[in-house]
Amino acid sequence: MHRTSASRAARLTKAVAQFPVARYLQPGRYLKMADSCAPKFSAQTLKEYELTLARYPTRQAALLPTLWLAMREFGWISPQVEQYVAGLMGLPPSHVRAVVSFYEMFYRKPVGRWHLAVCTNLPCRLRGADQIVRAIRDRLNFEHGDTTPDRRFTLETVQCLASCGSAPMLQLNQDVYHENLTVESVIKLIDELAARAD
Ligand code: FES
Repeated sequence: MHRTSASRAARLTKAVAQFPVARYLQPGRYLKMADSCAPKFSAQTLKEYELTLARYPTRQAALLPTLWLAMREFGWISPQVEQYVAGLMGLPPSHVRAVVSFYEMFYRKPVGRWHLAVCTNLPCRLRGADQIVRAIRDRLNFEHGDTTPDRRFTLETVQCLASCGSAPMLQLNQDVYHENLTVESVIKLIDELAARAD
């Protein structure tokens, strides 16, 4: 344990020397907290994190982009990842928890390869969101929970995604909107995604 900490300290000291963001880091605090957490950024992500820090005036301001890096790295934000990010940034874990739980875009449990976030707020509901949700559940044979056993699909219902004028709609994996959905179009989408090899 002690040897691992020493080696990590050497790596961090080297990283601090290489990047201009070094002035923002508190290696001792980072190491102390990170030692008790399993998650750890890869060297590439750590480099991106350090560059991110350099673009923001405070660590608090850099928290959201850092959480995006964590989502990309770990797939979701577990309590252990929250602790890791808090330790890395020198922020109170309660602050990180508050931010993660405030924003719906951060996954707080593992999700499948295809994450379907169907808006069920009033305008979408008036335009058939409930039928869209039912069609997805029926097509994918959800039995228990919201993720298929093969972990290919996760279905989630969410509040307004700011596309009310093209309701009903869903957001796919954070960055693609499918709008003016019908039962037929959403089944077509599901089938196309299911057929993909990636
Ligand atoms: S109510 Fe569905 S996007 Fe606004």
